[in-house]
Amino acid sequence: MDTLTPRQIVAELDKYIIGQNTAKRMVAIALRNRWRRRQVPEDLRDEIAPKNIIMMGPTGVGKTEIARRLAKLAESPFLKVEASKFTEVGYVGRDVESMIRDLMEIGISMVKEEQYEALRPKAEELAEERILDILLPVRQPRKFRRNQITPSSKENDDEVDVAQRTREKFRRLLRNGKLDDREVEIETQVSSLPVVEIFSPGGMEEMDINIKDMMSSFFPGKTKRRRVKVPDALRTLVQEESNRLLDNEKVVKTAKGRVEQTGIVFVDELDKIASSHGSSHGPDISREGVQRDLLPIIEGSNVNTKHGVVKTDHILFIAAGAFHVSKPSDLIPEIQGRFPLRAELSALTRNDFVRILTEPKNALVKQYQELLKTEDLTLEFTNEAIEEMAILAEEVNERAENIGARRLHTIMEKLLEEISFNAPEMGGVAITVSPEMVRERLSEIVKSDDLSRYIL
Ligand SMILES: Nc1ncnc2c1ncn2[C@@H]1O[C@H](COP(=O)(O)OP(=O)(O)OP(=O)(O)O)[C@@H](O)[C@H]1O
Ligand SMILES: [Mg+2]
Repeated sequence: MDTLTPRQIVAELDKYIIGQNTAKRMVAIALRNRWRRRQVPEDLRDEIAPKNIIMMGPTGVGKTEIARRLAKLAESPFLKVEASKFTEVGYVGRDVESMIRDLMEIGISMVKEEQYEALRPKAEELAEERILDILLPVRQPRKFRRNQITPSSKENDDEVDVAQRTREKFRRLLRNGKLDDREVEIETQVSSLPVVEIFSPGGMEEMDINIKDMMSSFFPGKTKRRRVKVPDALRTLVQEESNRLLDNEKVVKTAKGRVEQTGIVFVDELDKIASSHGSSHGPDISREGVQRDLLPIIEGSNVNTKHGVVKTDHILFIAAGAFHVSKPSDLIPEIQGRFPLRAELSALTRNDFVRILTEPKNALVKQYQELLKTEDLTLEFTNEAIEEMAILAEEVNERAENIGARRLHTIMEKLLEEISFNAPEMGGVAITVSPEMVRERLSEIVKSDDLSRYIL
């Protein structure tokens, strides 16, 4: 499963993120280390704590993007949170322990999904039998008949055979979709929960879930008979059978193990909870409070979730922040110590921009090409045009604010504004963006500091 080597992980990340090799290597090693730890003899295994990472770097250079792509690769419960969203325990807002509760929910749905997948063939089989029972209400199982009428007569055996054959015939019809237009009556669970909205200090999520759970035990689901088309009935029954087959206890146990052993929490905007220089009053106090609340979770503690206690000792934390106002040294020392690895992401250059525009799987140029293709418009960019866009992006980043690769989005939008607006009426044409076109549409704006500040 998660046996990608660091080199393979970096190669995967390379498909989406240009440059930033230090950071990529660091997260790749961290990911691999989770796997290594699980191969280590048990007595030592518990001793090996994950080495948490801080990714630092200016805005728009790929920090969040690395985390997002890593999540896909990790195949382990992965949660991304923003540090600035949390408040100190006791204050209105989300407390930091909620991240572990959320991670556990992610683990649960991950395991559930896998289990459903595994149970699917069995559930489908059972659902099919149930549909056939409904379609052919006079089911005549041999045994039953034999017990009723003894001794088995030739006549009776024939009757049973006919029933069997009919059933098999219907099964074929069902599988070939020949019964799709038929309606059948099935019993379905209806949730009889009264619709209420619940507001709680912790936001809707947790409270909401707990209360729903509680209420559904007060109001056991009623069943209701409904007439539905065969395919819908089949879907409902597969769902029902899957739920019946699913071993909830096992799900929780597996999920808990996976969260504790392989879970990753990505804490974005960590710099936002660092106190800015000197001023140690006002909001800083509560920021420090959040940092203090974070400590035990990162260090390893037990967090209560609705699925039981989750130990956080081996959960990997990757933090990121621009750290342009505050520095990692503005974090309380204990937090600093818990993130021993630091990766610095570098500011992006013109060359990076050229590559970002064209190389990643989801490159901006490809995105716009596909978008306009839906209007039957073929869009091409000459290499020089791409180069020109990169030059302008760099220039605006230098003169106005450096917003990294996000600048390419504003440049691209501005450049293609006319075309985007008119595309439906232009149908069928091919447009090649030339460097002149880029200059013509953008250089005025880039030259004027005021304009570029507002428009780009
Ligand atoms: N090195 C890169 N390679 C490819 N695309 C990038 C790179 N850096 C940034 N981008 C693109 O720029 C956008 C912003 O990047 P991202 O969200 O990773 O910024 P960030 O570093 O997290 O910034 P912030 O500090 O503001 O959160 C994304 O759409 C991303 O695809
Ligand atoms: Mg970010």
